[in-house]
Amino acid sequence: MESLPAAWLCLKPGRHHSRFDIRRSGKIAALAQLRALAMSGIMHAAMPNSHSSMPDIAALARAIDRPLALVGMMGSGKSLVGRRLAQRLDLPFIDSDAEIEKSAGITITEIFELAGEERFRTLERNAISDAADSGPSVLSTGGGSICTPETAALLCDRTIVIWLQAKPDTLLSRIGSISSRPLLHTDDPLATLRDLAERRAADYGKAHITVTTDQLSAAAAVAAVLRALDSHLAVS
Ligand code: S3P
Repeated sequence: MESLPAAWLCLKPGRHHSRFDIRRSGKIAALAQLRALAMSGIMHAAMPNSHSSMPDIAALARAIDRPLALVGMMGSGKSLVGRRLAQRLDLPFIDSDAEIEKSAGITITEIFELAGEERFRTLERNAISDAADSGPSVLSTGGGSICTPETAALLCDRTIVIWLQAKPDTLLSRIGSISSRPLLHTDDPLATLRDLAERRAADYGKAHITVTTDQLSAAAAVAAVLRALDSHLAVS
């Protein structure tokens, strides 16, 4: 499970405060600000419990007939957002890395060291194929899964692919320890993230849905995914 700093779990107090200060700007101006914030999506980040424009979750859950596969770079929040999304939709949560570790009996880092990345990618494809066979779920995939052509085809044909996009600086701030990320065992993990993100952009671009999460709390990211999914499936 990815470890995310507290900053990702709730917005920093005061971040949007000056844009949302009723005393300073008066009631009418504040209402205009509220409307502008709601339209820009910031209000959901500032008020994660606001469900004003939330889709009908039960109807949305009924419309899902396949796994929702979260893709994106390491640190994009696939595990945290995925778990919460699964809870909201009352779907099973599957983490492809965890499934691989469970069946191999060793960690991802050990698989890379002992068997190499190519073997890892085969195990990853098998784990994703198993998940695709198991009906609706929320599937958190490893960051490079969609970069292998066979796995990309599997994901795009048999799941709804959701790209959690974030800038490399954001990713690094969310990745607690790099010890479980063998690809970041380099002299400059930020430069590695930038390089990987650039090389992978076209692969992530195959996703059916893209949600940019840089400014979002985990709760707001879940809400953004739910809204995007609702519109993708044309439920509401
Ligand atoms: C990888 C990301 C990791 C893991 C492996 C390779 C990648 O998963 O699958 O270390 O290629 O980006 P997370 O994205 O969950 O960290």
